[in-house]
Amino acid sequence: MLREVRITPSILNANFDDLAGEIRRIADVSDLVHLDIMDNVFVPNFTFDFEAASKIVRESVLPVDAHLMVVDADRIAPQYAEIGCASVTLHVEATNDIAQTLRAIRSQGARSGLAVKPNTQIDEYAEFSDLVDMYLIMTVEPGFGGQKFMFDMIEKIQRARRIIGSRPIWLQVDGGISEETIEIATAAGADTFVAGSAVFKSPDPAAMVTKLRELAGSVPE
Ligand code: DX5
Ligand code: ZN
Repeated sequence: MLREVRITPSILNANFDDLAGEIRRIADVSDLVHLDIMDNVFVPNFTFDFEAASKIVRESVLPVDAHLMVVDADRIAPQYAEIGCASVTLHVEATNDIAQTLRAIRSQGARSGLAVKPNTQIDEYAEFSDLVDMYLIMTVEPGFGGQKFMFDMIEKIQRARRIIGSRPIWLQVDGGISEETIEIATAAGADTFVAGSAVFKSPDPAAMVTKLRELAGSVPE
């Protein structure tokens, strides 16, 4: 049986002057659009404030997968669920109350996501699996697009897949996903793929999404 695969392109490296248009270019072939929210505190980069992000969510023709790289995630994450994001992911490194925040995201009708940076192990967060709809394993240090996939994260992806077991939790990878790396990430157990520069630096973003999906879909469960 083939595992269900989702491609969630990141617009971090798209044309910021026309994000609604950029999202439309990949809409027919993508599952969700991945929106990176950075506050220049949790990571050394800034993307959108809440008002700008809300406008993107309102105008997006695809459901939005918000990836919050912000401190104070406990306060901010439920707000992103409230404005209609389909999925809201917070970092374990940026929260004081994981369980409560995951519950708050779900209570607003969004899927709850829990992310770990490369130096954070996943095992100690296994206890939250009943409250989690998606684990996100960062395969680069968060902050910037266009970095190289960290192959030493493969073991962590495998561990996360074992933690998930038969639960319907998605396993997302983010950072350096491309034609060269998506198959090894799939083989390790990932089923949901963020791809930023691979998609939006390609001459045909939609064709690249389709290519990535084919490559990811070729590994049996
Ligand atoms: C990095 C972001 C990623 C980024 C991925 O901190 O979380 O979502 O857009 O970009 P690529 O695919 O270029 O590594
Ligand atoms: Zn991201």
